[in-house]
Amino acid sequence: MEYLPLFVSLKGRACLVVGAGSVALRKLEWLVEASADVSLVAREIPAGTGQFAAQHGVTQTERDFEPGDVVGRYLVVAATNDATVNQAIYAACEANAVLVNTVDDAALSSAIFPSIVNRDPVLVAIGTGGRSPTLARLVRGWMERRLPARLGALADWAGDWRARVKDALPSIDARRAFWESTLESSIAEAVYRGEVDAADRQIAERLEQNERLGELVGFVSLVGAGPGDPELLTLKALRCLEQADVIYYDNLVSDAVLDLARREAKRIYVGKKRAEHTATQDEINAMLVDAAMAGQRVVRLKGGDPSIFSRGGEELEALTAHGIAHEIVPGITAAMGCAAYAGIPLTHRDLAQSVRFVTGHRASDRTNLDWPELAKPDQTLVIYMGLGGLESICEHLIANGMDPATPAALIVRGTLPDMEVVEAPVAELAQAVREHAIKGPTTIIIGKVVGVRAAAAGQAPAAGSESS
Ligand SMILES: C[S@@+](CC[C@H](N)C(=O)[O-])C[C@H]1O[C@@H](n2cnc3c(N)ncnc32)[C@H](O)[C@@H]1O
Repeated sequence: MEYLPLFVSLKGRACLVVGAGSVALRKLEWLVEASADVSLVAREIPAGTGQFAAQHGVTQTERDFEPGDVVGRYLVVAATNDATVNQAIYAACEANAVLVNTVDDAALSSAIFPSIVNRDPVLVAIGTGGRSPTLARLVRGWMERRLPARLGALADWAGDWRARVKDALPSIDARRAFWESTLESSIAEAVYRGEVDAADRQIAERLEQNERLGELVGFVSLVGAGPGDPELLTLKALRCLEQADVIYYDNLVSDAVLDLARREAKRIYVGKKRAEHTATQDEINAMLVDAAMAGQRVVRLKGGDPSIFSRGGEELEALTAHGIAHEIVPGITAAMGCAAYAGIPLTHRDLAQSVRFVTGHRASDRTNLDWPELAKPDQTLVIYMGLGGLESICEHLIANGMDPATPAALIVRGTLPDMEVVEAPVAELAQAVREHAIKGPTTIIIGKVVGVRAAAAGQAPAAGSESS
């Protein structure tokens, strides 16, 4: 992290703006709003800026900047249109350990003004490390649309009730659960409508009902994290991550998804890679049960969908056996994520009437797969965990009647920014894959629908063609 977002109180602190153009005026307005003790130095101060400064008690000095101007300041804004002067201001601030923001120049800034969504006292600050102020403004637009206009009123109202709720619910976990449910309930809606009396009545009733909440057992959500791209998380999965006390996650859960979890949530890796067996399934089951028994909000986070080729079923059985309340939050499974991002429609009216999800896990023992069925045309096969047995899978399919020219693709790290696709007729796929250094999870898709991808790219499917 290049810059630490920090809310700083500037109340009564000495700040300086150098320059008096329109950009300088905007910074002046911010500093005045933050109740800073502001001074302005500029060779010429235009009437508009001067008027604003006079109205808000800003000290004005009409002359060139001098390095001594920064001494004793808390924050300096360099807003001149002269690069040499800005450089001198930056140097003076660095020499005096004063925070400096140079307008539109991150290299000359130890502090950056973020883009702000203002629902005072709720403030959302957005920064791009000075790389793209336009992007920051776009993100602000997204947030503006998402956040209720009267969010600040809700914060004020919650602040008024805070002490009473604390008295009624001494347990921190119980209090958090209480507030989380209250702030997303009809009570909050009443505050947004300005019906504070009604909101007060409802929260008082709810408090009475919830006084015992701290004694209740926790809850487990079995959540699908999707195949990697965090934007494929469902809103429900996101809410679970935002409310979790503890998260038990697998090796296929991407860092970008984990980053969305509540900052205080404990993250426990329980992945099962072939080389490193972190925890057995029984141990994972026991961890989920114990955490829930301790009253925690538990998230069991699994790659893709929690019910597809995962051991989610066993975890559910363990939770049920101990009487622990739970839910399944579905996720986008690898088949769907990989196909979509590779431009493959899993079924296409003219090419496939069904799609099968198959595990290729047992590389040495495929006798339990119904090869004649799998080799039939007009369907799509999606094979999970098939890389190790790829050659044998393709041979079995062809030996059981599949056309060797059937289009096929191996998708590596599907939906992630560095996704790769190796595409070849099924008879040549294993050879094409051997020519690539494969790293990361892979999913195989076999069927005429794979040809749609090549057609969309305006090319005939070629052995080993690759794209990302
Ligand atoms: C144990 S299974 C879990 C499947 C998961 N529950 C799901 O619904 O996607 C793991 C396999 O899923 C597939 N997989 C998961 N994420 C993938 C990704 N981002 N790209 C390609 N394949 C992936 C691979 O075949 C991997 O070996």
